[in-house]
Amino acid sequence: MGRRKLVVGNWKMNGMRAHLDEVEAIGRVAAAHPSVEVGLCLPATLIMAGSERRGAAFIGGQNCHMDISGAYTGSLSAEMLAEAGATWVITGHSERREARGETNADIASKSEAAHKAGINVILCVGETLAVRDAGKAEQVVADQLLASLPDDAAADWLAVAYEPIWAIGTGRIPTLEAVATMHAALRAALASRIGAEADKMRILYGGSMNGDNAADLMAIADVDGGLVGGASLSAKKFAPIIEAAEQRMAAAA
Ligand code: PGA
Repeated sequence: MGRRKLVVGNWKMNGMRAHLDEVEAIGRVAAAHPSVEVGLCLPATLIMAGSERRGAAFIGGQNCHMDISGAYTGSLSAEMLAEAGATWVITGHSERREARGETNADIASKSEAAHKAGINVILCVGETLAVRDAGKAEQVVADQLLASLPDDAAADWLAVAYEPIWAIGTGRIPTLEAVATMHAALRAALASRIGAEADKMRILYGGSMNGDNAADLMAIADVDGGLVGGASLSAKKFAPIIEAAEQRMAAAA
């Protein structure tokens, strides 16, 4: 055990310069909860300015290209994100897997590219409601994870985020039992690929995590933090989640 809780905000396509005050406020909350690793994955336009006002929070990107440079209009490489101040990046978010047609192989390549650029990765996986209703969630998500996990994945640069697609932005979350079952299945899948390293790798829960449900979710043995969308947009809403993570770490110590 001994995995440090990781709580990351995903701002998606939200955030203008006016919101840098929130970045700063969240950076202060992070400083007040040093046992928790806190970060914000900002829209690319805010990464540079956000890095200057991040306090104790890290700044991440939400996507990167798998190549270093080239004729890819509209894309950003991991090196570019790193130069702008990002130290993490999200890969494989369902909003990109679905809307942008990203494949498991693309996500493995992007994650590798990020690692080569010295950036840590939050690799997202998750099932549709149809898959869950069919009783296949664990199998499908574990397969997705193994197909998008880079061969040399290690806990010091990669974390996994389990995000049931039907829970994202909907206010609905799976039962705590279902989350526990899924996270245990993902840890077992990781162990089948990377052996003992799986025990060190953080597996975050994402999808409608908020200040009311964070403590219960993070009390689950294999839930090592959260990837938080809507509730990360302000320090007021994000702070209780960071607080819950700190309390869980203290309780486990
Ligand atoms: P949500 O988003 O917390 O708003 O559900 C989570 C995510 O998509 O990462």
